[in-house]
Amino acid sequence: MATSSVFRPGLFNQKVAIVTGGGTGIGKAISEELLELGCNVVISSRKADRLEAAAQQMTQKIPPSSPASVTPLPCNIRNEDEVKALVSSVLKKYGRIDFLVNNGGGQFTSPTEHMSLKGWKAVVDTNLNGTFNCCKEVYSAWMKEHGGVIINIIADMWKGFPGMAHTGAARAGVDNLTKSLAIEWATSGVRVNAVAPGTIFSKTAMENYKDLGPHLFRRSVPSTPAKRPGVPEEVSSAVCFLLSPAASYISGATLKVDAGQSLYHSMWEIPDHSAWPEAPEGENLDALKELLNPQSKL
Ligand code: ADE
Repeated sequence: MATSSVFRPGLFNQKVAIVTGGGTGIGKAISEELLELGCNVVISSRKADRLEAAAQQMTQKIPPSSPASVTPLPCNIRNEDEVKALVSSVLKKYGRIDFLVNNGGGQFTSPTEHMSLKGWKAVVDTNLNGTFNCCKEVYSAWMKEHGGVIINIIADMWKGFPGMAHTGAARAGVDNLTKSLAIEWATSGVRVNAVAPGTIFSKTAMENYKDLGPHLFRRSVPSTPAKRPGVPEEVSSAVCFLLSPAASYISGATLKVDAGQSLYHSMWEIPDHSAWPEAPEGENLDALKELLNPQSKL
């Protein structure tokens, strides 16, 4: 059974939100919670058929008494013209845009040495440039004059992102973009914040990582203070808080939703090696060698 929002019913009645990547995983949970709170939600992603199916499923859950609605609008966020068309369609249909949730993105796992420039560029293009495109267009076409709230979904890349360096670099860029926009757009009454989820388990995330999925999620458990991955509903509640008037004095912030994971171990294993340059010679190095010597009596 779907979890129910802790927020007040009707909190987002008459509001209009765009949620990119709104049909799957974290984006789906965000869209569903917004709908539950009475919002009109435009879900957007590249794959029209999947988006349509998600919208139909979500529509069925909206009670007849609710003013909420869900509209699927396909858009490749990498493409500026498609983003312009998306924003203009939303304004034509609903006449306003209160919230933009930049959740659309994607990556693949690969050691950096095996990443092609094409693969690198594709990930940066979606996650960083796509977010830029959506922020800029929604601001110019609506929020500049009317205010609004933008939430950028980033990642746990605070210790670097070994194995997914492309998305780490892109999301760190989005984190910084969040701060720049929070300042630049304050004069329009636009709040801009980021949410940085830790390891979040969803059926779509499992599918995306293919055979690696079960391994990745199981392996995350020991390095997670909570001793379990999070679920999308635990991210959507943070997003709804930041969109709500309860966060009216919060802008330029990044809220980690990771149960402290980013303060704890890295999940990246470094095998034993002897490739590191030796420390400068001297009595400290001698003492260190003695300490590390398996035969040491220390
Ligand atoms: N989700 C993943 N890639 C996307 C893209 N290029 N446009 C919109 N949503 C996406």
